[in-house]
Amino acid sequence: MHIILVLLLLSFSVAINASDHAAVSAFKDAISGSTIATTAWTGDDFCIWLGIYCDPNTLRVTDIVLRADDSSDSVVGDKKLDLSGSWTGLLSNSLCLLDQLTTLIITDWNSISGEIPPCITSLSQLRILDLSGNRISGEIPSEIGKLTQLVVLNLGGNQISGSIPTSIVSLQNLKLLDVSNNQLTNEIPSEIGQLKMLSRVLMGRNQLTGSIPGSVAGLTRLADLDLSMNKISGLVPDAIGSMPVLSTLNLYCNELSGEVPGSLFGNKGLSHLNLSRNVLEGNLPDSFSSESYFTALDLSYNKLNGEVPKSLGSVKYMGVLNLSNNDFEDQGIARNGCFWYCFPQCDC
Ligand SMILES: *[C@@H]1O[C@H](CO)[C@@H](O)[C@H](O)[C@H]1NC(C)=O
Ligand SMILES: *[C@@H]1O[C@H](CO)[C@@H](O)[C@H](O)[C@H]1NC(C)=O
Repeated sequence: MHIILVLLLLSFSVAINASDHAAVSAFKDAISGSTIATTAWTGDDFCIWLGIYCDPNTLRVTDIVLRADDSSDSVVGDKKLDLSGSWTGLLSNSLCLLDQLTTLIITDWNSISGEIPPCITSLSQLRILDLSGNRISGEIPSEIGKLTQLVVLNLGGNQISGSIPTSIVSLQNLKLLDVSNNQLTNEIPSEIGQLKMLSRVLMGRNQLTGSIPGSVAGLTRLADLDLSMNKISGLVPDAIGSMPVLSTLNLYCNELSGEVPGSLFGNKGLSHLNLSRNVLEGNLPDSFSSESYFTALDLSYNKLNGEVPKSLGSVKYMGVLNLSNNDFEDQGIARNGCFWYCFPQCDC
C-alpha cells in the first residue's frame, strides 16, 4: 500500500519536465532585480509562473510572454504581472533547451542586455520571436534562417549590430520583420523578395547601405515598408509603385538619388509617402490620378526642380503635402511647401 502511494507521488512529480525545469530555472537565475524572478516565480511548478505557459498535456513550455508596459500592473494572458523592480540580465542559453517553445516575447524591459543566444536557432517550433525594446547587442544569429516556422521576428529598439543575415530569406512564413532602431550595417539581403508572406518590413534607424533591392517589389502582400534613416543610396526602384497593397512607404533620410518614379504617384493604395531628405532630382512625374489618395506626401529637402505637375490638383485627397526645400520654379513652394493649388488640409 505504501509503495503504491510513493509510486503515485513519484509519477506526479515526474510530470514536471526536468529539462524544461532546468531551463526556466537557469533563465530565472540569469535575470535579476525583478520582483517577477524573486517573488512571482517561486515553487517548482514553472507552468503556473507568470508569463510562462505550458502545454496542458505534456507540461512542456510552449510560450513565454513577458511584456513590460508603462502600466505597473499589465496583464499577460489571464495572469497579472507585477512589474515593479527593474529586470536586468542576459538571455540565458538555457532558453534553447525549451524545444517546444512556439512564442518568445520579452519586450520593452529596456534593460535586458547581452547577445541573442545563437542556439536559439535550434528552436524549430518558434513562430514568434519578439525581443524588441531592450538593450540587446551583438549580431542577429547568422543561422536565423533555420527558424522556418517564424511568423514574427521583432528585434526593434535594441543595440544590435552587424549585417542582416542572408539566411533570413529562408523564413518563408515571415509576416513581420522589424529590425528598426538598431545599429545594423551593410546591405539589405538582395533576395528579400523571396519572403512572399511579408506584410510589414521595418528597418528604419540603422546604418544600412547599398541600394533598395529590386526584389522588394515582388512582395505582393507588403503594406508597410520603412527604410528611413539609413544610408541607402541608388534609385527608388520603379516597380515599387506597382506593388498591390503597399500603403506606407517611408524612405526619408537616406541618400537616394535619381528621379521619383512615376508609378509611385499613380498607385491607388499608397497613402503615406515620405521621401524627405534624400538627393532626388529632376522633374516630378505628372502621374497623379484622380484616385490617388494621400494622407501624407512629403518630398521636402531634395533637389527636385521644374514645375509642380498639374495632375497633383486632380487627386482624390491630399492631407499633408510638403514640397518645401527643393528647387521648384514656383517660389511659393520654397516658401511654404504649398503650390498654386492650396489643399484645404494643407497648413499654409
Ligand atoms: C517625413 O520625414 C521627415 C524626416 O526627414 C519628418 O520630419 C516628417 O515629419 C515626415 N513627414 C510626414 C508627413 O510624416
Ligand atoms: C512637411 O510639412 C508637414 C506639414 O506642415 C509637416 O508635418 C512635416 O513634418 C514637414 N516635413 C519636414 C521634413 O519638415
